[in-house]
Amino acid sequence: MTKKVFKGSVMLNPVPVVLITSKNKENKTNVFTVAWTGTACTKPPIISVAIRPERLSYEYIKESMEFVVNLPSKDLVRQVDFCGVRSGRQMDKLKELGLTLDDASIVNAPIIKQCPVALECKVTNIIPLGSHDLFLAEVVAIQVEDRLMDASGKIHLENADLISYSHGEYFPLDNKALGKFGFSVMKKIKKGKPVK
Ligand SMILES: Cc1cc2nc3c(=O)[nH]c(=O)nc-3n(C[C@H](O)[C@H](O)[C@H](O)COP(=O)(O)O)c2cc1C
Repeated sequence: MTKKVFKGSVMLNPVPVVLITSKNKENKTNVFTVAWTGTACTKPPIISVAIRPERLSYEYIKESMEFVVNLPSKDLVRQVDFCGVRSGRQMDKLKELGLTLDDASIVNAPIIKQCPVALECKVTNIIPLGSHDLFLAEVVAIQVEDRLMDASGKIHLENADLISYSHGEYFPLDNKALGKFGFSVMKKIKKGKPVK
């Protein structure tokens, strides 16, 4: 198969798309949409978020050094897009969209009630890169909706209807996994006995 070569660009796809909430010193809250986010370290749990300095959220997060990453389900896709094309400088997006807030367990920034999962984060480093500054933040607590947990306490994120973002478009996730971690090397079990 042949391929065409293009100049370098951020063609890493798909990526998650999230709603980030923050609160400034005057207790004003804001929400914005972020797709340039990723896991950076497991222990301690650190994520990265790339933020353009012109965003209102940039100001709030730099001031408080805290934020919450809210994972939206697909029924919130319109709100996700809206929060990414309108600034909190123009309007109160949370009010406009009817998104309701709850207290986080550790940080001052609020969580969005309608989102099934929230990651409470404290900023540890800010690295200027160019168009965006990279915020590294420790995840100090997570909140997961009860309905996503089974009786043993296992979290079933596949039932959260999360959204991915790929090349400018939003996509639903299939709730049927293609395989689980390590499945390629696992021995098949037939009637309780490993297959040779
Ligand atoms: C799908 C999508 C992904 C986005 N990802 C980012 C991002 O990773 N970093 C960023 O700084 N802005 C990103 N934006 C743009 C901001 O969300 C947008 O400029 C927003 O209006 C900023 O809001 P604020 O000024 O209230 O903070 C994204 C927008 C959309 C629609």
